Order: sequence, then C-alpha cells, then structure tokens
Amino acid sequence: MRAFTKTKYGGPEVLTLEDVPKPAVSEDSVLVKVKANSANPADWHILRGKPWFARLTFGLLRPKDKILGADFSGIVEEVGESVGQFQVGDRIFGETLMGGAFAEYLVAKEQVCGKMPQGARFDEMACVPIAGLTALQALTTQGKLKKGESVLINGASGGVGHFTVQIAKAFGAKVTAVCSTKNLDFVRSLGADLVIAYDREDIHQHQGDYDLVVDIHGNLSHRDFTRMGKRGVLVGFTTMGHMMTVMLKGAFSKFPLTQFTARANTNDLETLAAMIQDSEIKVHIEKRYAFREIPRAISYIEKMRTRGKVAMIWDED
Ligand SMILES: NC(=O)c1ccc[n+]([C@@H]2O[C@H](COP(=O)([O-])OP(=O)(O)OC[C@H]3O[C@@H](n4cnc5c(N)ncnc54)[C@H](OP(=O)(O)O)[C@@H]3O)[C@@H](O)[C@H]2O)c1
Repeated sequence: MRAFTKTKYGGPEVLTLEDVPKPAVSEDSVLVKVKANSANPADWHILRGKPWFARLTFGLLRPKDKILGADFSGIVEEVGESVGQFQVGDRIFGETLMGGAFAEYLVAKEQVCGKMPQGARFDEMACVPIAGLTALQALTTQGKLKKGESVLINGASGGVGHFTVQIAKAFGAKVTAVCSTKNLDFVRSLGADLVIAYDREDIHQHQGDYDLVVDIHGNLSHRDFTRMGKRGVLVGFTTMGHMMTVMLKGAFSKFPLTQFTARANTNDLETLAAMIQDSEIKVHIEKRYAFREIPRAISYIEKMRTRGKVAMIWDED
C-alpha cells in the first residue's frame, strides 16, 4: 500500500510517498481502507519534533513511527477478534495520534473510532476527529459549560474554533468569538452572537465578562483570563514559554483554569456524528488536496491561518 513516511524530523519535505506493507489487524483494532484525512497542527508538531518535549513521546533522535497522520475516515475491511462495535463494511471516522493515518490502510483501536452518520461524506468526517473532539471536550468535560452561559472563544475561525462556536451555540450558550477581520463574516455565519476582530480591537484590553473563556489560539495571559472570565480553558499555545507562564500562574491562583489534550473515544465521536446528522454542526472545508499533495496540505496549515479545515482525499467514492 502507499503511505507518507518519514525517517527523520523536519518540514513537509521529509515526507516520502512509498510502498509499505499493509498493517496487520490486532485483537482490539480494525483495519480501515482510508478514504480521506484532515490536517491538524499536531501533524506538523510531530513531523518537526517540536516542541522538543514531544520527542519524549515520538522519538528522541528520530521519529519512532514511520507513517504520519492522525485524522481519518474510511471503510472497515477487517476486525480484530474482540472488536464488538464495528463490522466489515462500516463507514467510520477516528483519530490515531501516534500516526499511521496518511496511508491507504491503517489499523486503529476500536475505541478511537466512531460510525459516520448516514449520508455524511468522507472528506467532511475526516475533518471532525481532533478538532471536533477538542472543541467538545473544551466546552463540556473541561469547561463545564451550562445552557444560557456566556463564553468567549479566542481563535474562532480555525479547525477547533469553528467547531467550538457551533457546539457552544448548540448547547445554548451566548457566544462572543475572536478572529481576524477577514473571517468576521465566516464566524458570524457559524452562529456567534458577537464577533471581535483581534486586528482591530486589542483583546488584551477587552473588558467583557464571561462565564467561560476558551483560548484556542493560546495568546491570552493569566491576567486576561481572570479579567474576562469566571473560569478558563487553555487549548492551544503560541510559545511553550507563554503556556508555561500561564499555567504556573494558574497553579498559584484560585481562578479555575485547565489545560488539556483531547482524547478520542467512541462516545464523543458519536456525539459529534449525531450533531452533524442533526445539522447542529457543519464542517467547513477551506481546501481539499489529493492524497499525493499531503505535504502541501501540511505546509498550508502550518501558516495557522486556516478557515475551518483542510481535507486530503485518497478515494472520492
Ligand atoms: N489541547 C488539545 O488537545 C488541542 C487539540 C487540537 C489543537 N490544539 C491547538 O489549538 C490550536 C488551534 O488548532 P486548530 O486546529 O484550530 O488550528 P488551525 O485550524 O490551523 O487554525 C488556526 C487559527 O488561528 C487563528 N489565529 C491566528 N492568529 C490569531 C490571533 N492572534 N488571535 C486569535 N486567533 C488567531 C487563525 O484565525 P485568523 O486567520 O482569523 O487569524 C486560524 O483560524 C493550535 O495551537 C493547536 O496546536 C490543541
């Protein structure tokens, strides 16, 4: 099968499309014929081995895992002996953070997969796992958002942000969203009640008062969180130094602030699938690339200016 492989850390130029053996299914996993992928900042962090502490997980001197890629959608070709939720022929989507998804076939543990909604397209469902799970878990598990509460979403126009705005609205929150001027109309179209352009108004001077502040971009200071919110969730980071400073200040403050890494599970994936089925969430795909152009897709999202998501297609059918 064809797959994008890497043997050293570096930019998208270190990725090679080559023939590799098809992976073998294990007891608690499924073999998936991949139809589509999406790109996430995690892909270029893992590809570059940055920030450096990521190398403790992904390989100290060179990458442990040969095939890059996390988000996928596709069709189940084989199931392991203990797999109970999926059958051959099921249309599924999911996330393998340790890699393997930028390939014609992948093996994934059943608990990181969910069934696709009836009639959903492979390209749109490949865009959901990391960004959708992060949005859902930031608002619910971490942010404890309740109906009628107000939420500020900083970084509302990208992959995570565009899902966060829609999920918060679906949960009955009052949403104020922060993005650049060029994305104001896009973010309004997602349902935000109020939109702030960070290139017109300094968010660090903003005097709003919110039940929850979700910082997806990762440039808010600890003072920004305490000035604007009653509780906060830190999703992304601009520099490691900035994130460490915010969390260190958080450790010595009573302000409820959490930082987390989203975890895939079937329950949350199928919650997202149901919201898509019920048209509570729409996946916005800014760009589609053919699978051969996966390195270009990674280069594009590395600019951190994506509107919605970027999908990569292995097979249109
Ligand atoms: N904790 C977790 O589990 C987790 C999971 C997924 C992602 N993340 C992190 O979350 C962050 C966002 O991920 P993503 O997938 O949404 O990335 P993305 O799709 O590449 O989107 C990046 C977004 O950042 C926005 N942005 C750039 N400068 C900004 C600024 N000064 N203020 C506010 N927004 C700004 C851009 O909007 P404009 O073009 O409008 O400026 C763009 O929409 C990344 O740091 C990623 O590593 C964390």
